[in-house]
Amino acid sequence: MYKKDFLLNDNIYLLNHSVGRPLKNTEQQFKTHFLDHWQDASSEPWPQWISAIERYQIALGSLFNDDANHFCPQVNLSSALTKVLMSVDRLQQPHTKILMSESDFPSMGFVMQRAIANTANITYIPNSLDITDPTIWAKYLNTSIDLVFISHAYSNTGQQAPVKDILALAREHHVLSIVDVAQSAGIIPLDLSTTRPDFMIGSCVKWLCGGPGSSYLWVNPDQLKHCQPKDVGWFSHQQPFEFNIHHFENHQGALRFWGGTPSIMPYVISANSIEYFVRIGIEKLRQHNQILLAMLADAFPQALVSPQQEAQRNGTAILHFGSQQEAVLSALSAHSISIDNRQQGMRISPHIYNDRIEIMQLIEVINTVYINE
Ligand SMILES: Cc1ncc(COP(=O)(O)O)c(C=O)c1O
Repeated sequence: MYKKDFLLNDNIYLLNHSVGRPLKNTEQQFKTHFLDHWQDASSEPWPQWISAIERYQIALGSLFNDDANHFCPQVNLSSALTKVLMSVDRLQQPHTKILMSESDFPSMGFVMQRAIANTANITYIPNSLDITDPTIWAKYLNTSIDLVFISHAYSNTGQQAPVKDILALAREHHVLSIVDVAQSAGIIPLDLSTTRPDFMIGSCVKWLCGGPGSSYLWVNPDQLKHCQPKDVGWFSHQQPFEFNIHHFENHQGALRFWGGTPSIMPYVISANSIEYFVRIGIEKLRQHNQILLAMLADAFPQALVSPQQEAQRNGTAILHFGSQQEAVLSALSAHSISIDNRQQGMRISPHIYNDRIEIMQLIEVINTVYINE
């Protein structure tokens, strides 16, 4: 039913943890909200382009149920994280302490290692521990920590972090928090009106089907007064058109994290796709995704690496068939079924444009080569 809305080919596409497919109306949106304004020689395009960015912020506000003004457009998560780390005094001390996990996306670790003092300390919760278990986080989270970094969803393991429990612990110990929703936005609901980290970073590349270049930083208004971004530009200014080189005043809201002249096109495309998914409802997307993941878990319980319990699962199933992994991968590829493979196993991420028939086909293909010993 939803397939008709997307640009898909004949492959069974299950790589939504990597890149979501574009909506069919992407080209028309690009033309109407970006190119047409650019081509119109009678006026400059900025007012309409800025409106396009406001539409993006409003779409994010609906997606995460919070004020659109708390969102600042960003290029990617790495850059957003750098900006946050460099803006908070407490995170720039010689002995700042950060808590994150070995399962976080490596780029987030690279940023941490560079954007805090080289005498600061980063503790990684090891891969061997169950990151879905709040008691594991409780062992590491104490008042000596300055910032906890939480990935809502881990694409290599199919796990989901117990965000609410971790945030409660962080609040109890006066630890700052930042949540990475790159792998969860659009497939696991997150309500920022009740779940209130200090910062949240995310993008639209994956389940939100918005393509690269449109990311975002959400800043808890209680934190804004503590944030003095270093990476600024005229769009971070309270009055961008003041044009006085001797006077810079931080934007009063989250846009102080913006910077110089922004790109427009990625936000046009993403505003449209976020609106599309908000209309369907993220609860519904999650439900559909979990039904398809359950089919895989039931078909191959012995190969399932990702969690069995829905509460601990994200949108991706991880399967490992031991010595038969290569044979299974080759068979899937030969049948034009698009998945990828990591150390823990193959990643299978069904979206709203995938259906039961496709998952049954995938199961059948695996069963042609896989012998359960
Ligand atoms: C959990 C997570 N965080 C961050 C990123 C990407 O960060 P960036 O936008 O800086 O490339 C990814 C990309 O796959 C991811 O899975």
